[in-house]
Amino acid sequence: MQNTDIKVLVIHGPNLNLLGIREKGIYGTEDIESINKRIREEAEKLNIGVEIYQSNHEGEIIDIIHSAMGKYNGIVINPGAYTHYSIAIRDAIKAVDIPTVEVHLSNVHGREEFRAKSVIAPVCLGQISGFGGDSYLLGLRAVVLRLKQNNAFC
Ligand code: DQA
Repeated sequence: MQNTDIKVLVIHGPNLNLLGIREKGIYGTEDIESINKRIREEAEKLNIGVEIYQSNHEGEIIDIIHSAMGKYNGIVINPGAYTHYSIAIRDAIKAVDIPTVEVHLSNVHGREEFRAKSVIAPVCLGQISGFGGDSYLLGLRAVVLRLKQNNAFC
């Protein structure tokens, strides 16, 4: 697959619109506009297409995932708190069968016990967690790498 054929959908889940304001000690001071700018710059460097959405609503996130069918070949998603319990988002990712990477700004494995469990990660290529806004850029690179290798390990 050529990079120019690759289109990735980036989804920010609930409360991520408040980045830069919310719990700065955990999520840092970078706001979502700055992260989105860096995602677009990274996509340009990789010579791929990218679109970015944010939603605070589970059903809307599911609709966005469904709408990716036939339009995007990869998904990078930070499901926010839905990570830990949304079987519906997990099922949507499984249903559309588009290679997906789960990303988190914070290291979900070093925080409260409930955050270490992801119901989404098992249907993804993998999870990137703990690198702040860079987690999205790493997620983008990871999905492109796998698409080019055409070799998913799950
Ligand atoms: C988060 C981690 C989740 O546990 C939390 O509910 C969030 C943000 C992260 O990016 O670190 O909203 O997904």
